[in-house]
Amino acid sequence: MAIEFRLLQRSDSIADLTALLHAAYAQLQRLGFNYTAVDQSEQTTRDRIAGGECYVAIDAGHIIGTILFRRHSRGCAWYEQRHVAAVHQFGVMPTAQRSGIGKKLIQLCETRAIETGATEIALDTAEGAAHLVGWYERLGYRPVAIEQWQGKTYRSLILSKDLHGSAVA
Ligand SMILES: CC(C)(COP(=O)(O)OP(=O)(O)OC[C@H]1O[C@@H](n2cnc3c(N)ncnc32)[C@H](O)[C@@H]1OP(=O)(O)O)[C@@H](O)C(=O)NCCC(=O)NCCS
Repeated sequence: MAIEFRLLQRSDSIADLTALLHAAYAQLQRLGFNYTAVDQSEQTTRDRIAGGECYVAIDAGHIIGTILFRRHSRGCAWYEQRHVAAVHQFGVMPTAQRSGIGKKLIQLCETRAIETGATEIALDTAEGAAHLVGWYERLGYRPVAIEQWQGKTYRSLILSKDLHGSAVA
């Protein structure tokens, strides 16, 4: 059956969404990066998705991927610019990774950014997560800032993509 990409619905399980994030981010924990999604509570999942658009990939009724789109995000000067949208809480179930689901999720958010009048879309990741930084760069993101957030074992690289000239997919 085809994978469905849609907004999180009230009937979807926050426990399942949280478990998916834990499973996806376990590989980053093993690399020594204590991303919030490694062990966040269900309440943190709720708090994070409030005010944003949480998209999910559904396979046979199960959430196998997720991403959070925010037209206006917070946490650093780059995010707080009016023309900048952002994505967070991005993960795909390990068994479903590397089959294009992540790319689809991020492209969906780029489309939402354009539709909502943003001209940049940004995200952050561990500066030392070279495989992720490389992938984002291949998708057209460029490093724009470094942040050291409280409690994190790593410095975060903020990457941003210029959406001028991008058409709504
Ligand atoms: C990052 C993530 C969301 C991407 O989702 P995905 O469904 O695997 O992504 P896709 O299949 O669309 O594309 C993956 C790309 O990354 C590469 N990739 C994925 N995992 C990789 C790994 N462990 N090492 C090296 N490259 C990797 C693939 O080769 C592919 O590159 P390409 O498009 O140039 O061929 C997913 O791998 C994941 O959940 N990772 C763990 C959590 C995470 O890193 N979240 C993001 C934190 S900022």
